[in-house]
Formats: sequence, structure tokens, C-alpha cells
Amino acid sequence: MKSNIVLIGFMGTGKTAVGLVLSQRLNRPLIEVDETIEKIAGKTIPDIFQDDGEIHFRELEIEAIRTAAKGEKQVIACGGGAVLNTINIERLRLTGVIINLTAAPKIILKRTAKENGSRPLLDVEQPLERIKELSKFRKPFYERAADITINTSKSSIDSAADKIIDRLKKYEGFNL
Ligand code: S3P
Repeated sequence: MKSNIVLIGFMGTGKTAVGLVLSQRLNRPLIEVDETIEKIAGKTIPDIFQDDGEIHFRELEIEAIRTAAKGEKQVIACGGGAVLNTINIERLRLTGVIINLTAAPKIILKRTAKENGSRPLLDVEQPLERIKELSKFRKPFYERAADITINTSKSSIDSAADKIIDRLKKYEGFNL
């Protein structure tokens, strides 16, 4: 029986915010994979990208997810690029139901602009174009990984969490 709730999806789709609400409502620990990576590396994500490069970041991400996937009854909020390495999804799928959060590019831009500088991949001249390009490339990865998909473009954080809980109640093989 699976017992982890795994949140995947592009940057700015609400994984951390929705994950926090789910963890509070369901009384489960929230594992924020980006936070774990920062702890392992002893520096922020922009610094990891700048000093060590994206490939090193992805190696740390694989390690953080490998550890997270071993736990039970957790909410796991992944970074947006976790789907790119299929080993991550294979490990997460063994113990968890995978929830894919989506949102329209303009909404993503609005949400991510508020946290300017915290996402190296969007730290470019034309962030909306970058969001569109990356989303298009990653779409099949998210879709292939997803057990459940929730569009958060027009949802509040609470209502997205409500929708996820409703879907999980009906999900066979999941221990809520
Ligand atoms: C990334 C998303 C970020 C973070 C890193 C790379 C990506 O996490 O892991 O900047 O490749 O989409 P969030 O999705 O939480 O912003």
C-alpha cells in the first residue's frame, strides 16, 4: 500500500504551498526536496547552480529523492525538474501517489516573479518565453509520471489541497 503524497509539476505551480497545507491537514511531515538539497550542499540552489552547475544539482536531487522515497506517510514536494531523471519517478512511485500540478505560463510568471532570483533557470531576460519553452519540453515527462493531475491556475492553495484530498480518498491502493 502506498502512503506518500508526491507533488510534481513546473516551477510556480504551487507544490510547496499546497504541500504545506496537505501536511498540516493530514498531519504528515512535509519533505521539501529543494530544502533537503540545500542542507546537503550547505548552500542555496542559485549558488549550487552557479558554483557547481546544473548536473551536480541533479545528482544531489537524485540523492535527496532516493532518501525521501524510503519514508512513509509523508508529503514530498519535488523541484520542477525532478521528472527529468526517470530514476526519481521510479523510486517515488514505489511508495507514493504522484500528483502533477499544472498552471498556465502567465500565472507561473506572476507567481515566480514574486520570488525573483531564487530560480536560476528563470533568471533570464525573457522569463515568459523560457517558461513556455521549458513547459513544452517537460510536458510529456510530467504527464507520463502523473497518477493525478490538478490545474492550479484558478485555484486557491486551499481548494487545490481539497481537490487532492478528494481524489486520494477515491484512489485505490493508497493509505490516507
Ligand atoms: C527547478 C525547479 C526548482 C529547483 C531548481 C530547478 C527546475 O524548484 O529545484 O531551481 O528544474 O524546474 P521549484 O519547482 O520548487 O521552483
